[in-house]
Amino acid sequence: MEWAKIIQERRSIRRFKSSPEVDQELVRELLREAQGLYPYPSGEASSYRYVYAGTAESRERLAACMLEPLVKNKLVKWLPEKIRDFVRKRVTEIPGHLAVIASTNEDRRTNDMNYAAVCGIMQNFQLLAWQRQLGTLWDTEPMMQSRELFHLFQMKPTEKLVGILHLGYFDKIPKARARTRAEKKWTIISG
Ligand SMILES: Cc1cc2nc3c(=O)[nH]c(=O)nc-3n(C[C@H](O)[C@H](O)[C@H](O)COP(=O)(O)O)c2cc1C
Repeated sequence: MEWAKIIQERRSIRRFKSSPEVDQELVRELLREAQGLYPYPSGEASSYRYVYAGTAESRERLAACMLEPLVKNKLVKWLPEKIRDFVRKRVTEIPGHLAVIASTNEDRRTNDMNYAAVCGIMQNFQLLAWQRQLGTLWDTEPMMQSRELFHLFQMKPTEKLVGILHLGYFDKIPKARARTRAEKKWTIISG
């Protein structure tokens, strides 16, 4: 399949099939390919790591950590059971969760370059996964920034969770959302 077509046709998947499982070796292979496709500008190594939850037990642990802040949140006290069940079911039924963690740096340029490289790898991963009929959702919801989750991922204060890529197979391709045409973002320097 041509890349232009894959870029155009890839959709974020929010409704995953609970089976089959996502083969961990496939995830690692896609990550190797995704990294290979992204040349880091300065030639230095970019700094990041991955944490994967693919077993029923690990998904339960992940869900529990995501739920912890909701349980504590006074605003949702009136509906805790329903919300808890919904989030727990959603997280545990998605076959795979790939957390992508980038190192941060006090030097802004180094920090931005590393973050950009990691985002590039994640988008490459989404495109390569799509090519194999594996669906992805790049998740950055505030729930992802909980202390409990950081603890589960053994994150250092110098690290940033760039997102969790939820992974699984799917039946239906969602409709595309409207895109802003590139021309609308376009200006030229006169002369
Ligand atoms: C950096 C980034 C963060 C995102 N965070 C979320 C998120 O927190 N929740 C969500 O449902 N989708 C998230 N998405 C997916 C976007 O909502 C999705 O890409 C957008 O709706 C366009 O749909 P498409 O990917 O099918 O073209 C994120 C995507 C990117 C690139």
